[in-house]
Formats: sequence, C-alpha cells, structure tokens
Amino acid sequence: MTISILHCLLRPFLIILLTILSSTSFNSAISTGANYNVVSFGANPDGKTDCAKAFLSAWQKACGSAQPATIYVPPGRFLLGKVIFVGGECSNKAITVTIDGTLVAPSNYNGNDDSNWIVFENVDGVSVHGGLLDGQGTSLWACKKSGGNCPSGATSLEFTNSKNIMVAGLTSLNSQMFHIVIYQCQHVKVQGVKVMAPANSPNTDGIHIAGSDDVTILNSNIQTGDDCVSVGAGTTNLWVENIACGPGHGISIGSLGQDQNEAGVQNVTVKTIKFMGTENGVRIKTWGKPSNAFVKGILFQHAVMVDVQNPIVIDQNYCPDKGCSRQASGVKISDVTYQDIHGTSATEVAVKFDCSSKNPCSGIQLEDVKLTYNNQVAQASCQNAGGTSQGYVQPQSCL
Ligand SMILES: *[C@@H]1O[C@H](CO)[C@@H](O)[C@H](O)[C@H]1NC(C)=O
Repeated sequence: MTISILHCLLRPFLIILLTILSSTSFNSAISTGANYNVVSFGANPDGKTDCAKAFLSAWQKACGSAQPATIYVPPGRFLLGKVIFVGGECSNKAITVTIDGTLVAPSNYNGNDDSNWIVFENVDGVSVHGGLLDGQGTSLWACKKSGGNCPSGATSLEFTNSKNIMVAGLTSLNSQMFHIVIYQCQHVKVQGVKVMAPANSPNTDGIHIAGSDDVTILNSNIQTGDDCVSVGAGTTNLWVENIACGPGHGISIGSLGQDQNEAGVQNVTVKTIKFMGTENGVRIKTWGKPSNAFVKGILFQHAVMVDVQNPIVIDQNYCPDKGCSRQASGVKISDVTYQDIHGTSATEVAVKFDCSSKNPCSGIQLEDVKLTYNNQVAQASCQNAGGTSQGYVQPQSCL
C-alpha cells in the first residue's frame, strides 16, 4: 500500500525526468553532430609523421556527413605537409575544425613549391576554432635576408573562393610568408586570433584580404614583420575592430594599382586599433603607375599610436622596381575619414598625404586628431590632397 502510493506520487516526476533526459540527449546529439578525431584516421602527434592523409580522410568523412560535423585535433604536435581541403563536392555546410594541438609545417621550405600550406578552397560553412599553426619560417627568412635565390614561401592558412567562414581563437606563429589570407571569399569572420613573428621577418603579413566581400576581423593581436592587416584589390565591406598591432608595418590598404585593370576597394572601417612601435599606422598605398583601380568610403576611427613612424599616411608613389619608373598613380582615392586618432609619432611628419598628380585625393576628412613628436607639435604634409578638417586637429591640417 505504501509502495503503490509512493509509486503513484513519483510516477509523474519520473515521466518528467525521463522526458527531460531524453530531450537533452536528443538536443546534444544535434548540436554536436558527427565527430571525427584525426588520430582515429591515423594522425600521429609525434611531430614527425606527416598527417596530411589523415586530415584529408577526416575531411572526406565530415563532408559526407548529413549532420553538422566536427573534425577534432587533440593536443600534441602534428606535422602537416601541404593540405588543400576542397569543398566543391562537399555537401556538408557546417564543418567545425576544433584544434587543441599544434600543426607544424615542414621546416624544409625547398621541398615546397610556392603553393600555400593549409588551404580551404571552395568551401561553404567552415569554422576553425583554436589551434596553434607553426609555419617554421625561420630558415626561409634567413635565405631571403641573405639575398639567395629562395622561393617566395607559403601562406600558413588560406581561404579561397569560399563563403560563410569563421576563424576563432587561432594562433599563427612564424609563417613563411603571409599568416592568414582571405581571397575571393564572402561572409568571413576572424576573431580572437593571435599572430606572432619577429619584427624583422620578411613578408609575414598578419591577415591579408583581397577580392572579398563582407569580412570582419575582431579582437586580435598581431605582432609581425610586415603589415598587421593588408587589404588588396577588390575588397568591399570590410570591418576591422579592436586590434593590437606591433611590431609590424601597420594596417594598410594596398599596395593597389599595380595592374592597369584592377578592382577597387570600397567601404572599409578600421576602428579601435592600438599601434605599438609600428612602421605605419593607417596607410593607403598605391603604385606609381597607370591603373583604373580606386579606393573609396574608408573610415579610420579611434586609433592610438605609440611611437609610430608614419601614423597617418597616403603614399601614391610606391615604386620599388625600375619598371615602374615613377609615373603618376591611376588609383583614385576619395572619401577617407580619420576620426579620433591620438598618440605619438616617431618621426616629425605624422600626417602625410602624398597623392597622385593625375588623380588628386578628394574628400579627405580629419576630425579630432592629435599626434605629437618628441613631446612637440608634429608636422603634416600634403600633395595633391583635398578635403576638410573639423574639431581639434594637430598637426594642423594641410588639406
Ligand atoms: C559597409 O560595410 C559594412 C560591413 O563592414 C556594412 O554593415 C554596411 O552596410 C556597408 N555599408 C554600405 C553603404 O554598403
């Protein structure tokens, strides 16, 4: 009697409990989806065995999965030769690569042609979370610095012709060439990334974007030997926010206008950036030669400069080789706003607009700019630059 009363009382609770339990496991099955650990495909975390085949097998499985899939890289050092994850035949539009370990590039750069290290091509809906990429660039840099006949080197991580991409919490160390490249992509978000290479490592741009639309780069720390972020031809609707940059060459739109026919750069926001000891702060750079390219609708906002050589610079006379022979740049630069830019310049000229004699810069706006040199007023220099200034602007505007 007591038992059956107890049973009657408990029964509804048991049913509720069971319902909760089953719905929980049902939900977690959906959110986790299929999980493919690269080790179960033969990857060996000894830092010596090339794991490319295992990674590609895991990728094939993930692509074939009807549910969202995770490729998991556990702790350990995984040597990885060149890998291209191709998405063309991949029906899965939700693949997460979760990396707890380190991916190590082969140190012998001579074995590489100029293709890149880890490439995602034609993929849709790929996220990469965590991980340390060790590009092992040191010996290639040494070759380049000794003026030898060296390959140009591999980009560590490249997304090309892809869309709906997320990269979060990744660290890229000592890339041979560029660390991360986003080329001809749409809807890309990069956040919480850390890039590290020595100040004197050649061509080690942090994040390079070109030919891409709707790219967002947030909350990242970039210390490298070339541009922290570089923006190439055909980039539209780019948002870069909350970046610590330095050492490095700053954030650069360009170099642009190397080719006669080249897509323009439009609608770029670069805000809340701290530049520390960099060669440039916010820069627009074009080749001194004919081109139909353009740059328009650019906002540089809330930047702090600490000991930066060229805090604000437009350079339309980039002409490193003789073939360029110092012609006027064809690139039209218009509608560029500098708002709330403060700090210290490491050279006397803190603001430099060196625009094209054929295509003067127009619609440049300076607002609330305060840059000093040696605790004194810095200088501004303008050539072929038109625009307005408002609010406090020091050095005094030369527009
Ligand atoms: C400019 O780009 C941002 C994303 O970076 C977007 O939200 C905004 O709508 C774009 N503006 C125009 C006018 O297209």
